Amino acid sequence: MARVPLIAGNWKMNMTVAEGVTLVKELMPRVDGLGKVEVAVCPPATALHAVGRALADSQIALGAQDVFWAASGAFTGMLSPPMLIDVGCTYAIVGHSERRGRFGKPDESLSPEAAQVFGDTDASVNLKAKAALGYGLSPIVCVGETLPEREDGRTDEVVAGQVRSCLAGLSAEQVAGLALAYEPVWAIGTGRACEAPEANRVCGIIRSVVRDAYGAAAADSVRVQYGGSVSEKNAHDLISQPEIDGGLVGGASLDATKFSQIAQVASVIAKDMRYA
Ligand code: PGA
Repeated sequence: MARVPLIAGNWKMNMTVAEGVTLVKELMPRVDGLGKVEVAVCPPATALHAVGRALADSQIALGAQDVFWAASGAFTGMLSPPMLIDVGCTYAIVGHSERRGRFGKPDESLSPEAAQVFGDTDASVNLKAKAALGYGLSPIVCVGETLPEREDGRTDEVVAGQVRSCLAGLSAEQVAGLALAYEPVWAIGTGRACEAPEANRVCGIIRSVVRDAYGAAAADSVRVQYGGSVSEKNAHDLISQPEIDGGLVGGASLDATKFSQIAQVASVIAKDMRYA
């Protein structure tokens, strides 16, 4: 088995152009040269071009936080796969819970009408994943249950359903090449990561759904990341789990020391037997 872990930093709505360029300049010397790990940063759209240029000679990849499914046209505010490729992206996060309107802690002042702006569904995530792959962008497809779903004992069913719907219609080869991020909504930005054995269990379920639908080769190749309060402190516990192939990191990705430590941990783990 030769899965290389992927450590992706989701900067969310943070970082000006200058701040983003400074951050990757701090990251590059700490991360470039690490073996057996892929590292990506996903800045806000305004910083993609400049950060991409700053990363020109680096092994750190560039990713977008979202992507639309059409190539061009009358879609005000959207960014297409060719546009993202044009500025140097190789990855695009799709279906993050903060775009699905599945906030763990909704802003009380947000009216239902205003909340609709975060309108992703499994169907739109599926369109986005298909479009990204069609243009050669690698999607990071996010899935995960909310706290009420977990408390109702519905975690496995919810996550399996999301995986099936979000990947519907893709070929086994396409699925083999993408990443799935298991991000329990209640663990995002809360400082309360999922316990490593439980995260491993759900990532294993995700892989078994892929195996049932796309076969053993796709299941062995697809990378299943964990996301939700990943830090330099819990990274070893989480990433050393056999079903967890890296992390989608939010808050800790805004700090060069913390994010590079997470990448270093993944690199060391990946050099063990599991990835040999
Ligand atoms: P967090 O965010 O690491 O700040 O919890 C993770 C994510 O939302 O991808």
